[in-house]
Amino acid sequence: MAHLLLIVSGSVAAYKALELVRLARRAGHAVTPILTAGGARFVTKEAMAGISGARVHDDLWAAEAEIGHIRLARAPDLVVAAPASADLLAKMAAGLADDLATTVLLATRAPVLVAPAMNPAMWAHPATVANMKTLAARGVAVVGPEDGPMAEPESGPGRLAEPATILAAIQGLLASGPLSGRHVVVTSGPTQEAIDPVRYIANRSSGRQGHAIAAALAALGARVTLVSGPVAVPDPAGVTVVRIESARDMLAAVEAALPADAAVFAAAVADFRPADVGTQKIKKVPGAPPPGITLTLNPDILATIAQRQVQRPALVVGFAAETENVVPHAQDKRRRKGCDWIVANDVSGDVMGGVENTVHLVTEAGVEDWPRLPKDEVARRLAARIAESLD
Ligand code: C5P
Repeated sequence: MAHLLLIVSGSVAAYKALELVRLARRAGHAVTPILTAGGARFVTKEAMAGISGARVHDDLWAAEAEIGHIRLARAPDLVVAAPASADLLAKMAAGLADDLATTVLLATRAPVLVAPAMNPAMWAHPATVANMKTLAARGVAVVGPEDGPMAEPESGPGRLAEPATILAAIQGLLASGPLSGRHVVVTSGPTQEAIDPVRYIANRSSGRQGHAIAAALAALGARVTLVSGPVAVPDPAGVTVVRIESARDMLAAVEAALPADAAVFAAAVADFRPADVGTQKIKKVPGAPPPGITLTLNPDILATIAQRQVQRPALVVGFAAETENVVPHAQDKRRRKGCDWIVANDVSGDVMGGVENTVHLVTEAGVEDWPRLPKDEVARRLAARIAESLD
């Protein structure tokens, strides 16, 4: 719940600033936008005003008459320049103040985050490299740019970071919660295991519990990487979401996200996958019996990460969905998989896909029985326990 001053400078990626404003507001922040002359060529003042619900400033002298650039500069908790063009970064590095954005950037005492966006050649230019070094030495935080296809027919580092990634960086800088400075990896949702190019095996996991845990951890200030199978629930704000389909992809994404202080494995990972996935759709043959599907074992992501020799997160939390003997099975699972905690769900009711959950937290110290709670509340309690444990 912070006040952000968002400077939008001239870049084709400026349209993404509207999405950033939407996500930031959804996360509870107030956003005051400033458009540079270049920024105003790519997004309209009207669109920005509509999405931000705030007055948009674009003229130093008009702003002066209204509230004054010093007050504008002093008000925010964080100044974000997204997209930050090569020109804006150069002006910042040189300390120029020739328009409202640069004047505010020079006058502010708030922390500053820049999300650069430019052509790869401009990003690689020694002038830009030197400017970024100067800004970093001054404590300016940077998110991106990312590598990938550009609006021009070329590719390379220079793409504006995705709005969700920028928001995650914002949350990280604002975070004063007990998990600030911590990185947590969360898995969520089902996996899909291909049978042939058009069919797959999956399960009914909605991703609600895992996504709620990711959101609750982010709300306590953690940087969260959420590795999710295909789900219909929306991405939690302020979380980096990596989308995968199969168990093997999920394991690779979790490993790529390490190091992490903690990992929470809430995904309903398929234990088995079809052994042979042909390149063609399996045909129905008239008169012939249906084909069999031979299954093979998937990697156990929780056990693999919990038993790692290097970069094992300090706290590894697994889930156990059981319909009977919930706690003894969970205690057994905790030992077998080598994780620290098991959140044991009693799924004898309508938990899969539902909004409530009855869980027991199984740790080395013993078992805690939690009452039947909404999944959001289970998530908040678990996040609070994780914060306590990492402290
Ligand atoms: O063995 P079981 O599937 O009951 O274990 C459940 C726990 O293990 C959950 O935390 C789930 O996310 C995790 N798991 C996994 N990879 C698998 C199977 C389960 O990470 N292949």
